[in-house]
Amino acid sequence: MSKVVLAYSGGLDTSVSVKWLQEKYGADVITVTLNIGQNEDMKEIEERAYGCGSVRHYSIDAVKDFVSDYVLRAIKADAMYQGKYPLSTALGRPLIAKKLVEVARKENADAVAHGCTGKGNDQVRFEVTVKSLEPRLKLIAPVREWNMTRDEEIAYAQRKGIPVKPSRSIYSIDQNLWGRSIESGILEHPDQEPPFDVFEWVVPPEEAPDMPSYVEISFENGVPISLNGREMEPSVLIQEMNRIAGSNGVGIIDHIEDRLVGIKSREVYECPAALCLIEAHSDLEKLVLTRMELEFKENAGRIWSWLVYSGLWEEPLRYDIDSFVSETQKRVNGSVRLKLYKGGMRVVGRSSRNQLYSLELSTYGMGSTFDQKKAEGFIELWGLQTRVANNVMKEGDVEKHSGYGKEIKEAK
Ligand code: ARG
Repeated sequence: MSKVVLAYSGGLDTSVSVKWLQEKYGADVITVTLNIGQNEDMKEIEERAYGCGSVRHYSIDAVKDFVSDYVLRAIKADAMYQGKYPLSTALGRPLIAKKLVEVARKENADAVAHGCTGKGNDQVRFEVTVKSLEPRLKLIAPVREWNMTRDEEIAYAQRKGIPVKPSRSIYSIDQNLWGRSIESGILEHPDQEPPFDVFEWVVPPEEAPDMPSYVEISFENGVPISLNGREMEPSVLIQEMNRIAGSNGVGIIDHIEDRLVGIKSREVYECPAALCLIEAHSDLEKLVLTRMELEFKENAGRIWSWLVYSGLWEEPLRYDIDSFVSETQKRVNGSVRLKLYKGGMRVVGRSSRNQLYSLELSTYGMGSTFDQKKAEGFIELWGLQTRVANNVMKEGDVEKHSGYGKEIKEAK
C-alpha cells in the first residue's frame, strides 16, 4: 500500500495511528482534519499532524457544509435518536467520510483510515459512507487492529517520539457545532449522576441567572433565520443559541442508548441549541401542518434518525425522506418564543402566517363559528363500530376478551 488518507482529530488515537500506519503498511500517510465547529485550533492540529509524520495535511473548513447539508436537514426532520439524542456526533461522520473520499481521489490514495474502536457506531458511519461513495478504497481501522490499551498507546507514543496533545480531560470527547458527546470514566456507571466538571457548554442550573431568558426564533421554510429579531446565518444562530441556552443551564442529556453493535451505553451530551431549535421547530409544525402530515412526518423522522444513527447516510431511503420532509417545510414559517430558566426550557408562544389554528373555531368565548350541533352526528358515526362490537358481545364471549372483558363483566 502506498498512500493512506487518515481522518486526523489531533488526539492520542489518531496521532499514534500515523506512525503505526507507516510502520505496518509502509504507507505515506496523508492527514485530514475538518472544522465542523468543534472549536479547536486547526493550526495547532496541523502542526501536530506533521510532527507525527504526516506527508501532507488537509485542514478543511466545513462548518457551512455541515450546517446546510446535515444540521438543517436534522432540524427539518426533528431528528432525535431514541427520543433523546439529536445525533450531533452521528451527523458529522458522513461529512468527514465524504471529504476523506475527495482527498483520496485527489491524492490517488489506496486506502482511508479512521481512529474508531470496534465497539462503537462511528466505525460503521465512516466505512459504510466511504464504501458507498468510492468502492475501490480499502478501509483501515488501526485502533480496532492493534489492540493497545490507552497506557500502551502512550508508551508507544513516547517510544516513537510522537507529539501527543496534553490531555485536558480524562473523558472521551467528541464535539461539533450541534453538540458535545462525553464518555468514559465515572459516566460508565449509569446509576451515578454526572459530575459537573464534565460539562463545558452548560452551567449548573443552580448557578444560572435568577431571571428567565426569552428567545424568539423565526423560521422560514423550516430553517431558523433569526434570533430575537436579528437575522443571522444558521451557523451563527446555532452558536448563539448554544451560548444562551447553555448559560441558562439548558442542554444536558443523560440517557441509556442502544448502539448499533448491540451494546447498551450510558451517554451524556451537551446539546443546548439542538434541544431548543428542535423543540421550537416541532412546535411550529404543530401550528401549520395537518394532523395527518404530523403523524406521518413523526414516523418518517424516526426512521430518518435511525438511518443516520446507524451509519446509513447514503441509503436512498434517507434521501427519499428528505424530499418528503423538505416539501412539508414550505409552510413552516413563523416565530416561536422560548422561555429558558434554570435548566428548564418551554415554548410559551408561537405564530405563523400559515397557521391552521383558528380562534373563531376554537374559542369558548363569543363569536365562535363552529356549529356544535354537528358534533352529535359526528360522534354517532365515529363511535359506530365500537358500539356495535360491544353490543354484540354476549356474557359468554367476555372470557375471550380477557382483560377488558372482565371490566365489562364487573360493571354489569
Ligand atoms: N453515542 C454517540 C453516537 O454514537 C456519541 C459517540 C461519541 N463518539 C466519541 N468518539 N466520543 O453518536
